[in-house]
Amino acid sequence: MCGIVGATGSSRVVDVLLSGMARLEYRGYDSAGVALVVGTPGEEGAPELTSLWRARRAEGTKSVADLAASIEVPEGIVHAGIGHVRWATHGRPDEHNAHPHLDCTGRVAVVHNGIIENFATLAAHLVDEGHRLASETDTEVVAHLLESRIATGESLTGALRAVIALIEGTFAIAAVHADDPDVIVAARRVSPLIVGRSDGSGLVASDIPAILGETREVFSLDDDHVAEVRPGSITVTGLDGRTVGPRPMTVEWDLEEAEKGGYDDFMSKEIREQPTAVADTLRGRLSGDGRVLLDEERLTISELREVDKVFIVACGSSYHAGLVAKYAIEHWARLPVEIDIASEFRYRDPVLDSQTLVVGVSQSGETVDTIQAMRGAAEQGAKTLVISNVVDSSMARESDAVLYTRAGPELCVAATKTHLAQVTALQVLALHLAQVRGSLYPEESAQLIEDLRSMPARVEEVISRAPAVSEVAGAVAGAKDFLFLGRHVGYPVALEGALKLKEISYLRAEGYPAGELKHGPIALIEEGVVVVAIATLRSDLLPKMLGNIEEVKSRGATVVVVATDGDGASVVRADHVLWVPPVPHSLFSPIVDVVPLQLLAYELARLRGNDVDRPRNLAKTVTVE
Ligand code: AGP
Repeated sequence: MCGIVGATGSSRVVDVLLSGMARLEYRGYDSAGVALVVGTPGEEGAPELTSLWRARRAEGTKSVADLAASIEVPEGIVHAGIGHVRWATHGRPDEHNAHPHLDCTGRVAVVHNGIIENFATLAAHLVDEGHRLASETDTEVVAHLLESRIATGESLTGALRAVIALIEGTFAIAAVHADDPDVIVAARRVSPLIVGRSDGSGLVASDIPAILGETREVFSLDDDHVAEVRPGSITVTGLDGRTVGPRPMTVEWDLEEAEKGGYDDFMSKEIREQPTAVADTLRGRLSGDGRVLLDEERLTISELREVDKVFIVACGSSYHAGLVAKYAIEHWARLPVEIDIASEFRYRDPVLDSQTLVVGVSQSGETVDTIQAMRGAAEQGAKTLVISNVVDSSMARESDAVLYTRAGPELCVAATKTHLAQVTALQVLALHLAQVRGSLYPEESAQLIEDLRSMPARVEEVISRAPAVSEVAGAVAGAKDFLFLGRHVGYPVALEGALKLKEISYLRAEGYPAGELKHGPIALIEEGVVVVAIATLRSDLLPKMLGNIEEVKSRGATVVVVATDGDGASVVRADHVLWVPPVPHSLFSPIVDVVPLQLLAYELARLRGNDVDRPRNLAKTVTVE
């Protein structure tokens, strides 16, 4: 939530900021703003005069474009600048709450992502001291706190170190000061922030795609470390002022991958990249002797063998991928699995010990609820493993083991290709655990990995059927209420189908295990309700799902059935059918079944004229609780 970008030492500071902000818009799009440190030559050989210049816009999803089109950068040398796209937490999403925020002198500017939990107390002190606060945000206190420290003679860097020691909560902060024109200072706690450098310039950003066009020399920051970014150099210090080495990050993505590449929007591009995302996630997972491999494993085989219980923690679509894994791990590795929404796990006092494996699933690797859940688990001595799409993400760095989904950057707020890659990676994890525990013969797990390799072609096949999904979307376009029903691994598919639809079309959509239908949701069924039934089930479950379809059909629902090619029996009562190809193992079916539901959500959202990449009220990475 909220995106930060900073640039110094470049001849194109403003372009770097604006293009970085456009790439960060998926993190928040309530408003956008930049602050620049501008130098003008002093008269008759006098030293250069430097000042801060700021522009902000609150045009909703058009803020960055509006800012880019309308700002007139003042004459002079732009030494450095910071930019921000906002997802409002404190204060309405209007221009006066838009970042950057300034101190009373107008010479310090700050951008921030996160929540400063003690801001009211800090603000009250500042007002008592005579500071004038101009916004309703929590962020503004940082600018005034910096001002107070700088007034005592501290450098901007020293001031930021002192200020973050006062702040409670989570933050990524970048600040500039007109008196030190080439410097950007930055710090983080839990909220993501990276720094970079190239050819005499220095960069700060919330994530890699924002600065991918400028550099591949990128470093991560640890909690409560402060980076002083100058043209061509980065110095990082801890709270005690001692220098700590910046930690290089691996940048695997290309700029091209972070652009639309001829598609109307990122969502359709990312849906179509799914076969590659699945194939890449499977790349190199089998060793020559048939062992299933993770990316980083700081756990020994005997430590893994000791694991007697698995917890999965995640949010949103990642949680749905985790639900699929529960079925796979229990079936293949014969380990009991509990799955939790990360924000619930964290506060419910789960019983963990050194024989517990806690698996965090997160596209970004930066979701605050999941990070904190994983940290809590590690503190209780549990072993931790993360499935992350971002290499060297906070969660990846802090976990005992990592399995990367190699989906490339996902910029549409609604997850598609990373969800499919997560389901794939979690199947790999289930097979790895099964091998370690000896619950499958090595040749069985190796065969299953080989079978997984046929999935990209099957996903490609479903995507090629997009025109048929469009027709179904057109037929149900007038409906306002959708109920998605699934059984077994079709249940997480139902949840994911409903989430996609509500996220981008704003239609009421719920996912339910079909067996629960008669325990309540059937009361909602009437003429006009659309029921989407996932009927690609194992033969023992299929008759039960067909019974559920009868029940809703006889009460007036319009029924859309997701069915396997050739399965005429499942579609007898269907009004519309979304056909998918058969899969080699029923546990793999979510990898194809969810695709027509993504396409259905996409088509319905487009028919309603919605911006599919930037749905209202949402942000890609949730970095505040
Ligand atoms: C999915 O479409 C969502 N935008 C959202 O639910 C997302 O999956 C969730 O916030 C988790 O994010 P993460 O995978 O980066 O942790």
